[in-house]
Amino acid sequence: MEKETGLNKEDLRKRLAGKFIVLDGPDGCGKSTQIKLLADFLKTKQLEVVCTVDPGGTAIGDKIRKLLKYGSEGINVTTEVMLFMASRAQLVSEVIKPALDGAKVVLCDRYISSTCAYQQAGGYVVDKILELARLAVGDVWPSLTIILDLPPGLGRKRTGVKRSKKSKSDYEQNHLFDSPTADMFDRRTLEYHNRVRKAFLNLAGLYPGVVKVIDVSTSDISTVHKKIKQIILETDF
Ligand code: TYD
Repeated sequence: MEKETGLNKEDLRKRLAGKFIVLDGPDGCGKSTQIKLLADFLKTKQLEVVCTVDPGGTAIGDKIRKLLKYGSEGINVTTEVMLFMASRAQLVSEVIKPALDGAKVVLCDRYISSTCAYQQAGGYVVDKILELARLAVGDVWPSLTIILDLPPGLGRKRTGVKRSKKSKSDYEQNHLFDSPTADMFDRRTLEYHNRVRKAFLNLAGLYPGVVKVIDVSTSDISTVHKKIKQIILETDF
């Protein structure tokens, strides 16, 4: 019996094999670090884990990711949604579905929940996003989505680097992410990022599967990791 989890390895394997889990949240919420920690933990329990990232995660998806981040000045929000969905369709068919069919645990850094938050904040209707998503991914939806929540100003402080060339007054005028080295997502205003955060917090109820929110604004990395483990081990999903 594992003291830490109250479950033995076989129980854990039965509980998590073939499950699709997404970590998502506003920029700078720390999901990539947490996915790595969670993957390491699950591997110590002899689970087979596949970690991936959306957009991206495949050769075609990586090209779409680059296009979205650095080559999409003036993009229409419908085009943007379609490109995210295109990358995701490839990711599902090449990576996620085969892994789930092979009873592996899939951990994904962002997914449709991000489109619901970011592109809804950009003016796209969430029902349409979900409809397009169903076309793109079929029935491959996460059974658990964990949102790591924090206010946008704090998220930017954590990712930090890209606004080094800007002054304090730029920051105060809401041009938070407007730096010469920032990608298109970094260049959006504080107001936009506040809408993104709100959309993430409103996901539960309209989004398939279980959606849990963890407030990460005052917690350190290991506390957040413990909270994620607790959700994974104690929630039915
Ligand atoms: P990335 O550098 O991966 O940011 P992060 O490390 O915070 O995940 O860039 C992904 C950006 O794309 C991020 O700002 C969120 C945005 N995004 C959308 O706008 N819609 C989506 O559907 C997804 C998946 C991401």
